[in-house]
Amino acid sequence: AENDRENMFALNDFAMRYFEKTLKETADGRDIGLSYFRYRGISDAMIEKFHLGYALEGRDALYKTAIERGYSEQYLISTGVCNRTDDGRVYDRFRGRVIYPIFTLAGKVVAFGGRTLSSEKKIAKYVNSPESDIYLKRRELYGLFQAKQAIAKAQKCILVEGYMDVISMHQAGVCNVVASSGTALTVEQVRLIKRFTSNVTLIYDSDAAGIKASLRGIELLLQDDMDIKVLLLPEGEDPDSFAQSHSSSEVEAYISEHETDFISFMASILMDGAASNPTKRAEVITRVVKTIALIPDEIKRSVYAQECSRILFMDEDVLRREIGKYYNEFR
Ligand code: GTP
Ligand code: MN
Ligand code: MN
Ligand code: MN
Ligand code: MN
Repeated sequence: AENDRENMFALNDFAMRYFEKTLKETADGRDIGLSYFRYRGISDAMIEKFHLGYALEGRDALYKTAIERGYSEQYLISTGVCNRTDDGRVYDRFRGRVIYPIFTLAGKVVAFGGRTLSSEKKIAKYVNSPESDIYLKRRELYGLFQAKQAIAKAQKCILVEGYMDVISMHQAGVCNVVASSGTALTVEQVRLIKRFTSNVTLIYDSDAAGIKASLRGIELLLQDDMDIKVLLLPEGEDPDSFAQSHSSSEVEAYISEHETDFISFMASILMDGAASNPTKRAEVITRVVKTIALIPDEIKRSVYAQECSRILFMDEDVLRREIGKYYNEFR
């Protein structure tokens, strides 16, 4: 019921304020949580802007406080802030982790991400709230609430992988940044971005795995007629580390000098290892042709046929014909 949803939002809001207060006003919060954010170079201003917090290590510190304040167990469970064991005991989901609240476009807290401070490989790096009546992962974009005005103003949305990437970019003064939080972009997320702009720049971690995993999301963006650019960071950098080690004007300059059109980029990297092998080259050409065929706008398809004919060493008319074939097949 609507009442339930309101109660879940209220509970999440309480939990967010509890985590924030814990970070600033408890000894462990300051010594462990705040020290961690300092070590990551995160300013107080960003801690405020993103409502970052800390969850104590104890098994039910939040649970007890919530019950004392009159919040009911039902919503602690349905939001996933707490969990219930098989024998019925309730405990805090987030323990000994720094907390990143996830906001809706309108600024309501729907979920939390909690990062471990340990580098122990056996421990999950991030724990997230489970999906619920108010939280569908595929419908949210981390940072959109804080970034939406900047996205509209810049007419560009920068898409990164993680929480820390968004926050460090904001801190460097680049505020039109959101994260898909480690998963491929969804149709719903593309629609959210499109409310503000149709220009997207992808900045993934400089590992090739990042780019590969994102291809499905990119197809969705192309189908929605978005203009996509991609930016590769120097080896070993992610947007977080890059933003932390450069001034805001250096970050801005790097982006404008290095972002390249996605389709041309894709054609070039795929051709890199394939140019001298006819079979591989044919595969690459088909792959690029199919990608171009996703674009609804005829003029754009035509411009890409021309551009990719150069990159792929392939007759432009052949490319056009093949693009047309797949374009019709896809519709
Ligand atoms: P830092 O290591 O703190 O810089 O985080 P990161 O954002 O760079 O992490 P990473 O590149 O490993 O992952 C990118 C994003 O994927 C994260 O911000 C999370 O949203 C998500 N993610 C990573 N690891 C996990 C995990 O173990 N569980 C879940 N649920 N999500 C994860
Ligand atoms: Mn990362
Ligand atoms: Mn990565
Ligand atoms: Mn990584
Ligand atoms: Mn990182």
